[in-house]
Amino acid sequence: MATKNPVTQLEFRDAWGRFATGVTIITSTEPDGGTHGMTANGVLSVSLDPPLALVCVDKARNTHGYITADGWFGISIVRKDQADIANYYVRKAADRIGDVQIPLEQREDGPPVIAEALAAISCKVVAAHDAGDHTIFVGEAVQLSTNEGDPLLFYTGKFGKIELD
Ligand SMILES: Cc1cc2nc3c(=O)[nH]c(=O)nc-3n(C[C@H](O)[C@H](O)[C@H](O)COP(=O)(O)O)c2cc1C
Repeated sequence: MATKNPVTQLEFRDAWGRFATGVTIITSTEPDGGTHGMTANGVLSVSLDPPLALVCVDKARNTHGYITADGWFGISIVRKDQADIANYYVRKAADRIGDVQIPLEQREDGPPVIAEALAAISCKVVAAHDAGDHTIFVGEAVQLSTNEGDPLLFYTGKFGKIELD
């Protein structure tokens, strides 16, 4: 939907592209029980008590429908050597032709997460806020795991690795 806002979508994307972030894979459950993935950096820690996290999902994404229907999502913060997984889950679902191995780890509740990710958090949706063309899903973390490694980063439209002084 076009708005009268003077900031164009291109300018807005370009400005936010200068915000270096980590990279996550949001997992969700497809209607047939399969596991779906979406690369995302629109994620945030929200609260410690209870432990809440949010993910912003475009209403046009498959992931949006799956989280809405199932009420669960996984957040896997990926390592730099998992860049092929992030690139895979950027593609449209029809273009995911199974050429990348996706190591999944089952969870007690909710969809599987990416095995060996830096952190993998299983979330049960507790709120869904309408926000323009996205929905902000807030989830309560009910299970998590962590691993050591170097993070995959995203900056100015490219995946990269961290360089600390
Ligand atoms: C670095 C990066 C971050 C992204 N973050 C988000 C995000 O936070 N929310 C979102 O809806 N799409 C995001 N996307 C786009 C989705 O990964 C992409 O549209 C994907 O194909 C959606 O899959 P689905 O429609 O099968 O769920 C991001 C893409 C990249 C490259």
